Amino acid sequence: MTQDEKKQAVARAALEFVEAGTIVGVGTGSTANYFIDALAEIKHKVDGTIASSEESARRLQAHGIRVMDLNSVSEMAVYVDGADESTKHLCLIKGGGGALTREKIVAAVADKFVCVVDDTKLVDRLGVFPLPVEVIPMARSYVARRIVRMGGQPELRQGFTTDNGNVILDVHNLDILEPAKIESELNQITGVVCNGLFARRPADVLLVGRDSGVETLQIH
Ligand code: A5P
Repeated sequence: MTQDEKKQAVARAALEFVEAGTIVGVGTGSTANYFIDALAEIKHKVDGTIASSEESARRLQAHGIRVMDLNSVSEMAVYVDGADESTKHLCLIKGGGGALTREKIVAAVADKFVCVVDDTKLVDRLGVFPLPVEVIPMARSYVARRIVRMGGQPELRQGFTTDNGNVILDVHNLDILEPAKIESELNQITGVVCNGLFARRPADVLLVGRDSGVETLQIH
Protein backbone atom coordinates (compact mmCIF):
# COMPACT_ATOMS: atom_id res chain seq x y z
CA MET A 1 0.00 0.00 0.00
CA THR A 2 1.18 3.53 -0.68
CA GLN A 3 1.25 6.11 2.11
CA ASP A 4 -1.84 7.77 0.59
CA GLU A 5 -3.71 4.46 0.49
CA LYS A 6 -2.90 3.92 4.17
CA LYS A 7 -4.18 7.41 4.98
CA GLN A 8 -7.37 6.69 3.06
CA ALA A 9 -7.84 3.37 4.85
CA VAL A 10 -7.54 4.89 8.35
CA ALA A 11 -9.76 7.83 7.40
CA ARG A 12 -12.47 5.41 6.30
CA ALA A 13 -12.00 3.26 9.42
CA ALA A 14 -12.63 6.36 11.56
CA LEU A 15 -16.21 6.49 10.26
CA GLU A 16 -16.97 3.65 12.68
CA PHE A 17 -16.53 6.11 15.54
CA VAL A 18 -19.10 8.54 14.13
CA GLU A 19 -22.44 8.11 15.87
CA ALA A 20 -25.75 9.15 14.34
CA GLY A 21 -27.20 12.45 15.55
CA THR A 22 -23.94 13.79 17.00
CA ILE A 23 -21.52 16.60 16.20
CA VAL A 24 -18.18 15.59 14.72
CA GLY A 25 -14.92 17.49 15.18
CA VAL A 26 -12.83 17.48 12.03
CA GLY A 27 -9.08 17.98 11.83
CA THR A 28 -6.72 19.42 9.26
CA GLY A 29 -4.26 17.95 6.78
CA SER A 30 -4.17 15.32 4.06
CA THR A 31 -5.44 12.45 6.26
CA ALA A 32 -8.22 14.64 7.68
CA ASN A 33 -9.12 15.55 4.09
CA TYR A 34 -9.65 11.86 3.30
CA PHE A 35 -11.84 11.66 6.41
CA ILE A 36 -13.90 14.64 5.20
CA ASP A 37 -14.40 12.94 1.82
CA ALA A 38 -15.51 9.73 3.55
CA LEU A 39 -17.78 11.64 5.95
CA ALA A 40 -19.56 13.15 2.95
CA GLU A 41 -21.00 9.71 2.22
CA ILE A 42 -22.81 9.67 5.58
CA LYS A 43 -23.37 13.40 5.99
CA HIS A 44 -27.13 13.04 6.59
CA LYS A 45 -26.39 10.89 9.61
CA VAL A 46 -24.61 13.63 11.61
CA ASP A 47 -26.02 16.85 13.09
CA GLY A 48 -23.04 18.92 12.03
CA THR A 49 -19.29 19.39 12.23
CA ILE A 50 -16.74 21.64 13.92
CA ALA A 51 -13.73 22.40 11.73
CA SER A 52 -10.23 22.90 13.13
CA SER A 53 -9.23 25.23 10.29
CA GLU A 54 -10.64 27.48 7.58
CA GLU A 55 -9.25 25.03 5.02
CA SER A 56 -11.17 22.09 6.47
CA ALA A 57 -14.31 24.23 6.83
CA ARG A 58 -14.15 25.02 3.11
CA ARG A 59 -13.73 21.35 2.19
CA LEU A 60 -16.62 20.31 4.45
CA GLN A 61 -18.87 23.00 2.99
CA ALA A 62 -17.91 22.03 -0.56
CA HIS A 63 -19.31 18.58 0.26
CA GLY A 64 -22.51 20.18 1.59
CA ILE A 65 -21.64 19.21 5.18
CA ARG A 66 -22.88 21.59 7.87
CA VAL A 67 -20.08 23.45 9.69
CA MET A 68 -21.00 24.92 13.06
CA ASP A 69 -19.48 27.49 15.42
CA LEU A 70 -17.83 25.79 18.40
CA ASN A 71 -19.43 28.31 20.73
CA SER A 72 -22.86 27.11 19.68
CA VAL A 73 -22.28 23.53 20.82
CA SER A 74 -21.80 22.12 24.30
CA GLU A 75 -21.01 18.53 23.35
CA MET A 76 -18.94 16.82 20.70
CA ALA A 77 -18.88 13.04 20.57
CA VAL A 78 -15.74 12.55 18.54
CA TYR A 79 -12.84 14.45 16.97
CA VAL A 80 -10.97 12.87 14.06
CA ASP A 81 -7.58 14.22 13.01
CA GLY A 82 -4.15 13.21 11.77
CA ALA A 83 -0.78 13.79 13.41
CA ASP A 84 2.83 14.32 12.43
CA GLU A 85 4.16 11.87 15.02
CA SER A 86 2.63 9.54 17.59
CA THR A 87 4.07 7.32 20.31
CA LYS A 88 2.45 4.04 21.28
CA HIS A 89 1.15 5.91 24.34
CA LEU A 90 -0.80 8.14 21.90
CA CYS A 91 1.13 11.32 22.70
CA LEU A 92 1.36 13.37 19.54
CA ILE A 93 3.14 16.11 17.67
CA LYS A 94 0.70 18.06 15.51
CA GLY A 95 0.74 21.34 13.66
CA GLY A 96 2.64 20.52 10.49
CA GLY A 97 -0.27 22.23 8.74
CA GLY A 98 -0.22 25.10 11.22
CA ALA A 99 -3.69 24.48 12.67
CA LEU A 100 -2.46 23.25 16.08
CA THR A 101 -4.27 25.76 18.30
CA ARG A 102 -7.72 25.18 16.86
CA GLU A 103 -6.98 21.45 16.74
CA LYS A 104 -6.13 21.48 20.44
CA ILE A 105 -9.29 23.42 21.25
CA VAL A 106 -11.51 21.01 19.32
CA ALA A 107 -9.72 18.01 20.87
CA ALA A 108 -10.30 19.50 24.35
CA VAL A 109 -14.04 19.67 23.78
CA ALA A 110 -14.42 16.21 22.23
CA ASP A 111 -15.40 13.19 24.32
CA LYS A 112 -13.16 10.99 22.16
CA PHE A 113 -10.15 11.92 20.03
CA VAL A 114 -9.56 9.42 17.23
CA CYS A 115 -6.18 10.02 15.61
CA VAL A 116 -5.58 8.64 12.12
CA VAL A 117 -2.04 8.06 10.85
CA ASP A 118 -0.05 5.92 8.47
CA ASP A 119 2.69 3.78 9.98
CA THR A 120 5.47 6.26 9.09
CA LYS A 121 4.15 8.52 11.87
CA LEU A 122 4.73 6.03 14.72
CA VAL A 123 7.88 6.85 16.72
CA ASP A 124 9.51 5.62 19.92
CA ARG A 125 10.26 9.17 21.00
CA LEU A 126 8.70 12.44 19.80
CA GLY A 127 10.80 15.17 18.26
CA VAL A 128 12.33 14.13 14.96
CA PHE A 129 9.50 16.15 13.41
CA PRO A 130 10.14 19.80 14.39
CA LEU A 131 7.68 20.88 17.09
CA PRO A 132 5.37 23.70 15.91
CA VAL A 133 4.76 26.52 18.40
CA GLU A 134 2.17 29.21 17.62
CA VAL A 135 3.34 32.62 18.82
CA ILE A 136 1.90 36.16 18.98
CA PRO A 137 3.93 38.01 16.29
CA MET A 138 5.38 40.71 18.59
CA ALA A 139 6.72 38.01 20.97
CA ARG A 140 8.49 36.03 18.25
CA SER A 141 12.09 36.91 19.15
CA TYR A 142 11.54 36.71 22.90
CA VAL A 143 9.89 33.29 22.65
CA ALA A 144 12.67 32.09 20.32
CA ARG A 145 15.33 33.11 22.87
CA ARG A 146 13.48 31.26 25.64
CA ILE A 147 13.21 28.14 23.49
CA VAL A 148 16.97 28.27 22.79
CA ARG A 149 17.48 28.29 26.58
CA MET A 150 15.41 25.09 26.72
CA GLY A 151 17.81 23.51 24.21
CA GLY A 152 15.68 23.84 21.08
CA GLN A 153 16.47 25.47 17.76
CA PRO A 154 13.47 27.54 16.65
CA GLU A 155 12.97 28.39 13.00
CA LEU A 156 10.33 30.85 11.83
CA ARG A 157 7.92 29.24 9.35
CA GLN A 158 8.42 31.57 6.41
CA GLY A 159 5.46 33.23 4.69
CA PHE A 160 2.94 31.55 6.99
CA THR A 161 0.24 33.11 9.17
CA THR A 162 -2.14 30.95 11.20
CA ASP A 163 -5.93 31.22 11.01
CA ASN A 164 -5.58 33.19 14.27
CA GLY A 165 -3.20 35.78 12.76
CA ASN A 166 -0.08 34.45 14.48
CA VAL A 167 3.29 33.01 13.42
CA ILE A 168 4.75 29.53 13.85
CA LEU A 169 8.18 28.65 15.23
CA ASP A 170 9.20 25.12 14.19
CA VAL A 171 11.48 23.88 16.96
CA HIS A 172 14.25 21.41 16.10
CA ASN A 173 16.28 19.22 18.43
CA LEU A 174 14.19 19.73 21.56
CA ASP A 175 14.61 16.94 24.09
CA ILE A 176 11.05 15.60 24.43
CA LEU A 177 11.66 12.76 26.85
CA GLU A 178 8.74 13.94 29.00
CA PRO A 179 6.17 15.32 26.54
CA ALA A 180 3.61 16.56 29.11
CA LYS A 181 6.32 18.49 30.99
CA ILE A 182 7.66 20.15 27.83
CA GLU A 183 4.11 20.93 26.69
CA SER A 184 3.45 22.81 29.96
CA GLU A 185 6.85 24.48 30.00
CA LEU A 186 6.39 25.91 26.51
CA ASN A 187 2.89 27.11 27.36
CA GLN A 188 4.35 29.07 30.30
CA ILE A 189 6.39 31.31 27.99
CA THR A 190 4.58 34.61 27.60
CA GLY A 191 3.60 35.10 23.98
CA VAL A 192 3.16 31.40 23.24
CA VAL A 193 -0.42 30.71 22.18
CA CYS A 194 -0.12 26.95 21.95
CA ASN A 195 2.33 24.22 21.03
CA GLY A 196 1.92 21.09 18.95
CA LEU A 197 2.47 18.57 21.74
CA PHE A 198 -0.68 16.63 22.55
CA ALA A 199 0.45 14.88 25.73
CA ARG A 200 -1.72 16.40 28.45
CA ARG A 201 -4.67 15.49 26.27
CA PRO A 202 -3.39 12.65 24.09
CA ALA A 203 -5.50 10.79 21.56
CA ASP A 204 -7.92 8.20 22.95
CA VAL A 205 -7.71 5.93 19.93
CA LEU A 206 -4.97 5.67 17.32
CA LEU A 207 -5.76 4.09 13.97
CA VAL A 208 -2.54 3.13 12.20
CA GLY A 209 -2.53 2.35 8.49
CA ARG A 210 -0.19 -0.54 7.70
CA ASP A 211 0.40 -2.80 4.71
CA SER A 212 -1.44 -5.48 6.64
CA GLY A 213 -4.47 -3.24 7.31
CA VAL A 214 -5.65 -0.85 10.01
CA GLU A 215 -4.32 -1.41 13.52
CA THR A 216 -6.19 0.08 16.50
CA LEU A 217 -4.27 1.28 19.56
CA GLN A 218 -6.12 2.40 22.63
CA ILE A 219 -4.85 3.46 26.04
CA HIS A 220 -8.10 3.16 28.02
C1 A5P B 1 -2.31 20.15 10.90
O1 A5P B 1 -2.02 21.32 11.57
C2 A5P B 1 -1.59 18.99 11.50
O2 A5P B 1 -1.72 18.86 12.86
C3 A5P B 1 -1.96 17.70 10.80
O3 A5P B 1 -2.91 16.98 11.50
C4 A5P B 1 -0.74 16.91 10.67
O4 A5P B 1 0.24 17.76 10.12
C5 A5P B 1 -0.92 15.66 9.82
O5 A5P B 1 -1.07 15.99 8.49
P1 A5P B 1 -1.15 14.90 7.36
O6 A5P B 1 -2.38 14.11 7.58
O7 A5P B 1 -1.22 15.72 6.09
O8 A5P B 1 0.09 14.09 7.44
